[in-house]
Amino acid sequence: MTPRPLDAFGPRSWERPEAVSFGRLPMRATLRRDERWCIDLAGAWAFRLVARPDAVTAADLSGPTEGWATVEVPGNWTMQGFDRPHYTNVQMPFGGPPPRVPVDNPTGVHRTRFTVPESWAGRRVVLHVGGAETVLYVHLDGKPVGMGKDSRLPHELDVTDLVRAGETHELALTVVRWSDATYLEDQDHWHQAGLHRDVFLYAVPQMHVADVRAVADYDPEAGAGLLRVQVGVDAPGYLERGWKVQVFAPGLLDAPLVAGVYGEHRDKVGVNVGLVEGRGATVQATIERVRPWSAEDPVLHDLRVVLIDEHGEACDEVGLRVGFRRVEVRGHELLVNGRPVLVKGVNRHEHDDRRGKAVTLDSMLQDVLLMKRHNMNAVRTSHYPNHPAFYDLCDEYGLYVVDEANIESHAYLRSLTKDARWGQAILERVTRMAARDVNHPSVIVWSLGNEAGWSPTHDAAAAWLRAWDGTRPVQYESALTERAYEAFGADGEVSHPDIWREPRADTDVVAPMYPSIADLVAWGSGGDAVPPSRPLIMCEYAHAMGNSGGSLADYWDAIEAHAGLQGGFVWDWVDQGIAIDTGDGTTYWGYGGDFGDEPNDGPFCLNGLVFPDRTPHPALAELKKVLQPVAVEAVDVATGRVRVTAKTDFVDLSWLRPAWEITVDGRIVADGTLDPLTVGPGESVEVTIPVPADLPPLAAGEQRHLTVRFLTAHDLPWVPAGHEVAWDQFLVASAPPLPLVLGGRARPWAGLVHPERFVGVFAGEPEVRLWRAPTDNDTYATPSPAARWEQWGLRELVRDDVTFTTRTADLDADAGDDEADAGGVWVEHTVVVPAELDDVARVGVRLVLGPGFEETEWFGRGPHENYRDRCASAAMGRWSATVDDWPVLYAHPQGTGNRTGVRWLRLWRAADGVEVVFDRLGPGGIDVTVSHLTDEDIHDAAHTVDLRPRPETYVWLDAAHRGVGTGAVGPDTLPRYRVGPGTYTWSYVVRMRGRHT
Ligand code: GAL
Ligand code: MG
Repeated sequence: MTPRPLDAFGPRSWERPEAVSFGRLPMRATLRRDERWCIDLAGAWAFRLVARPDAVTAADLSGPTEGWATVEVPGNWTMQGFDRPHYTNVQMPFGGPPPRVPVDNPTGVHRTRFTVPESWAGRRVVLHVGGAETVLYVHLDGKPVGMGKDSRLPHELDVTDLVRAGETHELALTVVRWSDATYLEDQDHWHQAGLHRDVFLYAVPQMHVADVRAVADYDPEAGAGLLRVQVGVDAPGYLERGWKVQVFAPGLLDAPLVAGVYGEHRDKVGVNVGLVEGRGATVQATIERVRPWSAEDPVLHDLRVVLIDEHGEACDEVGLRVGFRRVEVRGHELLVNGRPVLVKGVNRHEHDDRRGKAVTLDSMLQDVLLMKRHNMNAVRTSHYPNHPAFYDLCDEYGLYVVDEANIESHAYLRSLTKDARWGQAILERVTRMAARDVNHPSVIVWSLGNEAGWSPTHDAAAAWLRAWDGTRPVQYESALTERAYEAFGADGEVSHPDIWREPRADTDVVAPMYPSIADLVAWGSGGDAVPPSRPLIMCEYAHAMGNSGGSLADYWDAIEAHAGLQGGFVWDWVDQGIAIDTGDGTTYWGYGGDFGDEPNDGPFCLNGLVFPDRTPHPALAELKKVLQPVAVEAVDVATGRVRVTAKTDFVDLSWLRPAWEITVDGRIVADGTLDPLTVGPGESVEVTIPVPADLPPLAAGEQRHLTVRFLTAHDLPWVPAGHEVAWDQFLVASAPPLPLVLGGRARPWAGLVHPERFVGVFAGEPEVRLWRAPTDNDTYATPSPAARWEQWGLRELVRDDVTFTTRTADLDADAGDDEADAGGVWVEHTVVVPAELDDVARVGVRLVLGPGFEETEWFGRGPHENYRDRCASAAMGRWSATVDDWPVLYAHPQGTGNRTGVRWLRLWRAADGVEVVFDRLGPGGIDVTVSHLTDEDIHDAAHTVDLRPRPETYVWLDAAHRGVGTGAVGPDTLPRYRVGPGTYTWSYVVRMRGRHT
């Protein structure tokens, strides 16, 4: 039998959960080193994909690579024309059972060469492979070096003995795609393959700084900082004696901290027995006054750690940054620097629509800036440790991080992790993450992973974290889900708050996913007897799939009203769509199944607050609004008196400039700015806005609003001056409309369709509609509203128990003064929805305008798409948009485009200036949608590329339109935002103006 090179580390190690690594160095913290001692291996590597690990031959691992393909490293081969990306949610991408993987198992050999500089002679040389999905095998000049698993943490291997200064070496990194590790990496995302993170070599002196662990604790009472730096020093054998470390902290310490290096002693057993904390040195200092780090004020300090030899010469040096802060759980509160903070977080997968998991620094920065600009203060690295640079950005710009271990066994949620064969893998995934990320002030909580059930190993991992680190709490959700499985009663009901109250060894935080608001309130209110004993921070909520984000405001009302509720992380940040170029210049986003990936979970990977290119979904605007750090309440808005509250945790509001405006039907009639307010966190101040006394009176039907805004007063690291952070709007006055003087003649709708002077304006009569193109939430919720609508025959509305009547009348007295005015027509619709139809999409009419109507303007909520349960962010205003701007082209097309509270709508045809106005929509404003796409068009499209806008313009005027909820995962639209049976009557006035035709 020919030897199989990958078996050098044990036979079929890709199918053995106990084989976690071979020859891998211990994990260390991310440290800065002089680039002189580093060779970046990024670039084009020779690449050969073979069908299975056994097919790799010795000739693949060294020797010529003529005729090989190339791939970009860092990069996923699955995004570079080889093999395919594969999307699954819960199910595994292949059959099992664990730990079995398919025999056909794509295996990629990556080959490059490097030359060791002469100056590296005598140094220790380390190979760093930032990430390999899922198993990495390393060969140098054909010789086996080591292997390792965990796709989301680096592998480091000592190659000193295999390289020579001045010589060129051949490096082979072989990645086996499917392995036992895949069962522990069964997250809901794209399975990719390859080397998605940085690969480099670095050289250190034989005796060198191996690791640094810095604790920068902050005492909120005293305002003091305690800095404790543990420097790990290493050497191939016994340490030399008489060495020291120095720690410099400019701006913090006047002089470096110095300590002698301890190590084992060749002949003094007693020294070895008493060796304090391993090899190295520890220094410590108290700084009497420090400015602490927080997400709102991310103050960092540079540390320089220098290793000094017995002659006083500096021989090694590393750099890192620290921020002073203290995180603790006290009672039912998570405290940062002694204060309970609200966690305004989002879950983020690493995803790039062209690069897969190989995210760039620019894209990470873009994410961080967008999060900050949308009032978020936290991110959960769902569901694995991220690229190291991401934590630097969070430290720097200020985001709290829940750092999550790369453990998810969703397909075998309750069994796999209980099998002790996986124990080492689980522990390593936790401990190695902590060792890498321990110095980041942004990391405030460790997470044991996601959806991997409960096992004794989880308790052990939590205990390890508490004992080893102890400066951060631990969180884990999945044990709660497992308990819920156990606790399901005969009635299928389970009390989540009861489960949350149970004592647990695996978590210090109650971190449920997708709880109902009612359960949150029940917990926050303490139930009957048991007060909340731990903070509750939702690890996932507000599932943002497609047109979603319903009730965000309700969640935040509950969170702010109840102690013990401290926010949570929206699911999730970015739609995991993959760019597909059609070849004719069109690009669209593909999802599960578009790449021949079987089995798959279709569009379930599109749950982001932003599109794959980071364009925001409307739900992000809503989140920004409900998370805003300033609240304005009316005291007496007529005289401009309002109360301003700082909802910050640490800083006052002086970084914001207040601005105000008075509008009449959305038109600004007065505005101004105020001086920044120094109101401190949690405090309020009453402010009088200098509303002019001589405002013109309102005309009939008009509304006057006061809007108060808060804009950044100067440039900040994450946004320039003038960026709107917060706003609130108040209705100051509403003038009653003129009484309608209806003409004697009831004009049939046909009279509008074919008025002599307005040929081709209306292309049909109003049709009643109770259906919308189902959103993902409508489709995936259980029970599924979309399925019920289908059963009820709402799509074609083939029912005779829905009655629809329309009354019209001439509005002669309201004809207006335009020469070409066709006079108004008053229209009133009545629809009776029978009792059986207890949850319909909408009650409304659809009108069709002939081609050419491309421009619109309305007074109502906007400018972005909004629904009755997602309109906190949509101000009343006079908005304009083209018809194409109305719908949101979700990557998985679905119901879209609604605007609530619309009091009037104007559409016009640029070619001849003909305009149609729907006025007095009401009573009191209605839901309106405008589009070139019908609901049926949208429903029939699987991708945006399938959408074919029609020349006609469709206008939906709805007396009621269902909210969007978050039913795909989590609570469906709350009952109060649904549309039920009953009699609906709504009316409006239609006018047409324009040139004679
Ligand atoms: C959660 C899970 C996420 C994602 C989400 C559905 O249960 O933790 O990874 O699958 O559901 O989009
Ligand atoms: Mg899952």
